[in-house]
Amino acid sequence: MKIALLAGDGIGNEIMREALRVLDVLRSEGLKIETQEALVGGAAYDAHGDPLPDATLKLVQQSDAILFGAIGGPQYDKLPRDKRPEKAILGLRKECDFFANLRPANVFPELADASTLKPEVVSGLDIMIVRELVGDIYFGQPRGITGAAPNREGFNTMRYTEAQIRRILHVGFKTAMARGKRLCSIDKMNVLETTQLWRDIAEEIAPEYPEVQLSHMLVDNCAMQLVRNPRQFDVIVTGNMFGDILSDEASMLTGSIGMLPSASLDANGKGLYEPIHGSAPDIAGKGVANPLAMILSMAMMFRYTFNRTDLAARIESAVRAALATGLRTADIATKTTKPCTTAEMGTAVVKAL
Ligand code: NAI
Ligand code: MG
Repeated sequence: MKIALLAGDGIGNEIMREALRVLDVLRSEGLKIETQEALVGGAAYDAHGDPLPDATLKLVQQSDAILFGAIGGPQYDKLPRDKRPEKAILGLRKECDFFANLRPANVFPELADASTLKPEVVSGLDIMIVRELVGDIYFGQPRGITGAAPNREGFNTMRYTEAQIRRILHVGFKTAMARGKRLCSIDKMNVLETTQLWRDIAEEIAPEYPEVQLSHMLVDNCAMQLVRNPRQFDVIVTGNMFGDILSDEASMLTGSIGMLPSASLDANGKGLYEPIHGSAPDIAGKGVANPLAMILSMAMMFRYTFNRTDLAARIESAVRAALATGLRTADIATKTTKPCTTAEMGTAVVKAL
């Protein structure tokens, strides 16, 4: 096992530190895992004038998995597009063909007190969104803005090849197999040919997974159902654009951005694991960020890249045990709890482990 550690900017370093303490516990028990750090994002730009230096890309290519903190910051906002920190994450996805994005949205019972949402709708929520990450209207050609005012025209092209659709649907079916065996495929086949093809292929593949109950839903209805009754879903699989919007919507159902991990996988199980939040410049350097999304991202790494479901489950249980003690970082604190620090939360997870 070889993993690249790309902490990045802002709170990236603070949350990575806590995740590594968790890893150290597993190492002390004999787990063989090699780690190597590299600069990425604004930190890499500051040092080398490039948010994704060759040395970082090389390390990533030689690793089985990447733990990624977060990148970005207001000091980089005026840089040209190809120098900005965000270029690093887009570049990594493209270079490594991380086409499958897995984003769980769950509400731990241990955290019920921190939720400002209706408990009768979200308590016990546990869904997984599988989003295609390297195709669709975000990458389709032709695209552009032509003409002159007042007759300009902007256009993008929604395109998917059969091979692209097949591989992400297989990830969806396999993910469902490992969970509640229900897969809901999201499209807009009543209007868009690209997604008619998507639905046809989903039907073709379904017999290969007889245990999985496949259903289809139009994206507008899905947006509504996620708010109305999100617990009806187990695994959702969808294209790049619909997945972008639906996964952000679903994350808000949990009420806390500091808790949610994600995985971006290639065809061989190599993956990049990162919290869904950004570098949080407003709290960076204060030692108050919630490290749990980063720690849970590491759990996903053990599950999806290293097939160590046992370790993943252990880390997840430790996180829940830490929350069960009542410890809360500021983002998940209630009015009556005194917020703890990043390190205190890390310590609680390490103890529970
Ligand atoms: P953000 O996710 O960094 O922060 C949004 C809000 O959530 C802030 O109030 C922040 O303090 C809070 N927050 C985020 N993570 C937290 C944690 N672990 N614990 C406690 N509170 C937390 O989003 P924002 O402010 O829009 O973006 C800041 C920078 O991050 C930008 O430069 C943006 O481009 C970048 N970004 C990077 C991402 C990545 O690395 N994949 C993803 C999203 C944004
Ligand atoms: Mg988004």
